[in-house]
Amino acid sequence: MLAILLLYTLALFSTALSISINNTLYLISNAERPSRRRPGLTPVGMDRAKSCIPSVFGALDLGLIVVCTPDIKTNICIPANTTAAPLAASLGLVPDTSCSTGDDADVDCIGDLLREYATKSTQSILVIWDSNDMDDLLENLNLELAENNDGIDTGEDDEDDLAIYADIILIKNKKKHIIEASMNCTGIDGQAAGSFYVACAVRLWLFIYNLVPSPPLSFGLSLFVSRTSHSAFVPLRVR
Ligand SMILES: *[C@@H]1O[C@H](CO)[C@@H](O)[C@H](O)[C@H]1NC(C)=O
Ligand SMILES: *[C@@H]1O[C@H](CO)[C@@H](O)[C@H](O)[C@H]1NC(C)=O
Ligand SMILES: *[C@@H]1O[C@H](CO)[C@@H](O)[C@H](O)[C@H]1NC(C)=O
Repeated sequence: MLAILLLYTLALFSTALSISINNTLYLISNAERPSRRRPGLTPVGMDRAKSCIPSVFGALDLGLIVVCTPDIKTNICIPANTTAAPLAASLGLVPDTSCSTGDDADVDCIGDLLREYATKSTQSILVIWDSNDMDDLLENLNLELAENNDGIDTGEDDEDDLAIYADIILIKNKKKHIIEASMNCTGIDGQAAGSFYVACAVRLWLFIYNLVPSPPLSFGLSLFVSRTSHSAFVPLRVR
């Protein structure tokens, strides 16, 4: 009984102890990668690694770049390593890849590494991790994302966003909570021109389709095609 209480108290205590360093900490995942564990980055991912990331992080006084240990056999952290390379080269830094990720990884490695660096430098730190393991990274640093208070329960964790969106930056300043930001790079981040128009057209078609009592699908589709090319849709277009 006492042991259980003690364990419970320890667990409470340890979750409260998020990594405490004065250096600004930036966390990102690898840039866009191809499907089916094929190696490398997609063309957009390569663009992010070569131009977007160096332009965003080039002037943030980085003194340390940490990348999870790349493993050629499993492809784990290879995309993260590729993502880091252009920025590291432009800053003259060699990424520290001593901490691995995954089931067999040492959970204290990354925290110890960052604390050790903080004892000798006040410069900022960028951590680039495998997009499949962002939740492990946050857990190992005892960092929690702020609750999303928009009142919409999507049934998904905010951590899932980190695996999906390569533009997200998590920023931790001294004692403050984590801030989420977008790299917001021209041409690859945010909403593409015209995507709002397509979403509206699809919604309107669904609306019309539901109004007409079970018309054959081909009728619905031809209605969609003729209506989408019709000028009545033009006022919906956002410029
Ligand atoms: C952070 O900075 C404050 C003063 O600015 C200092 O007192 C404190 O010891 C520092 N904390 C760490 C973990 O270095
Ligand atoms: C990781 O990236 C560096 C360049 O930053 C490169 O020299 C090295 O070969 C890469 N490692 C692997 C395993 O791909
Ligand atoms: C992204 O950048 C555009 C202009 O480059 C700006 O208008 C927009 O507010 C930015 N969005 C975010 C989320 O920072």
